[in-house]
Amino acid sequence: MDESLPRNLHVFPKDFIWASATAAYQIEGGSEEGGETLSVWDHLRRIPGCIKDNSDSNLSCEGFKHWKQDVQLLKALGVTHYRFSVSWSRILPTGKTDKINEQGVEFYRNLCLELKANGIEPIITMFHYDFPIQLHEEGGFLNRKSIAWFTDFARICFEKFGDLVKTWVTFNEIIPNASFGVVPMENLPKFALDPVIPLEQWNITKRQAPYLAAHHQILAHASVYRLYKEEFYSKQKGKIGIVSGGRAAETPDESKESLEAAKRMINWQFLWMNEPIFGDGDYPKIMRDRMDYLAEKEGLKEILPKFTDEERKMVKDSADFIGINWYLSLMVGKYRNDPSNSFMENDGDYSFYSDNNEKISGDHWLRNTPNGLIECFKTIRDNYGNVPILVSENGCADHLPVQILGDPLNDYHRIRYIRAHVEAIGKAIADDLNIIGYTAWSLMDNFEWEDGFAVRFGLYRVDFDSPEKTRTPKKSAFFYRNLIDEQKKIVEKTEL
Ligand code: BGC
Repeated sequence: MDESLPRNLHVFPKDFIWASATAAYQIEGGSEEGGETLSVWDHLRRIPGCIKDNSDSNLSCEGFKHWKQDVQLLKALGVTHYRFSVSWSRILPTGKTDKINEQGVEFYRNLCLELKANGIEPIITMFHYDFPIQLHEEGGFLNRKSIAWFTDFARICFEKFGDLVKTWVTFNEIIPNASFGVVPMENLPKFALDPVIPLEQWNITKRQAPYLAAHHQILAHASVYRLYKEEFYSKQKGKIGIVSGGRAAETPDESKESLEAAKRMINWQFLWMNEPIFGDGDYPKIMRDRMDYLAEKEGLKEILPKFTDEERKMVKDSADFIGINWYLSLMVGKYRNDPSNSFMENDGDYSFYSDNNEKISGDHWLRNTPNGLIECFKTIRDNYGNVPILVSENGCADHLPVQILGDPLNDYHRIRYIRAHVEAIGKAIADDLNIIGYTAWSLMDNFEWEDGFAVRFGLYRVDFDSPEKTRTPKKSAFFYRNLIDEQKKIVEKTEL
């Protein structure tokens, strides 16, 4: 079995970030413990059939209990940074600043202190899908007040943790936040059951909802960035970025139709979020033209909201780096009218095609497409110049039943996947792309949203049935440690 390291580690710079990551809802458990209140995901997981294996996120890794031990797992990997998210409703039980849960604050402060005592820098994501239920009931991100709610929450984070944290992420992947969990979508029937936000109350149609939810998140991100720069930066000197799902397309053929559909997918699924922030302060022109045309055709005032001049100024250049969660390239071609289409396929006039390429793990969607990551970097460079890029997630799942996969600790498929992606990043660095770090998703098996515990992304295996939720390193954990070690040695040698 091949455990060889990437061949181009010598191109990685000295201060390169080697990280691993988790998200609060996926690992902490203990919702309603230590003063935490519920989030939309606690609500969703209670809807029968919503989580494939009906697993209980409260009983995942119980990171709320085992956080000290988890810092030792990170230390054993040799990572320089740990990206984790804070649970909004653990810090603010009503979602608003009328009440601060000091126990929650202490939990994250202790985690940051423990990390730093072990030579690991925290990277805090302020929002990773676990929206406080009470705010959801007030309209979630459909309510314009969400900009202020999030800014107020961020202020508390800067005040409470800012002396310990030098790297911040506002939102993890706005698109999923805009399209499920927060907004009930017709094409996701299980989410549409409940909780249904009475859209009429907000004078919004389902048609407009995801675009508006995304719009408010972009404004909330920018507002937090400005707050930090104006009130905290001079003392705390940190950096703030935002994370997008990385996108690159493969096409079923080379026809003009397919290639243009692929371009539209990149606009709808990637540039939509990034153009306002890293481009000229507004949505991609192709989206604006098409959505205004569709609005007129459908008799709506607008579907894709407009920024005012002042908002454009606030949003433009409101990030110090772009985070990319990279999993795979997508097969995209000309539009097919299908009831399972997402709103983005319908509006963007493209469709996803299934591909015949080998999957990494059974029928799970993941494939090993490192060239797509390079494509994604190039899309960023072509559109936004040399903005620093943090690969904020990259990883693959163990999905096969144990009897096919064999010993779940022998995850050679994951080693292959990580090696290929680190090698691709090395190529991009050699090509002068400004990549500042790599983050292996995930530190340990955890609650994989609708897939529950059935799909495992961890470098460490978690025995969800054991009372201690025992963590055991998989082969990939040793591989990642060796890789980081080797790169550090190369740097030391060249410095002599
Ligand atoms: C999300 C993670 C998730 C991963 C794998 C990412 O887009 O940020 O929370 O576990 O995908 O599905």
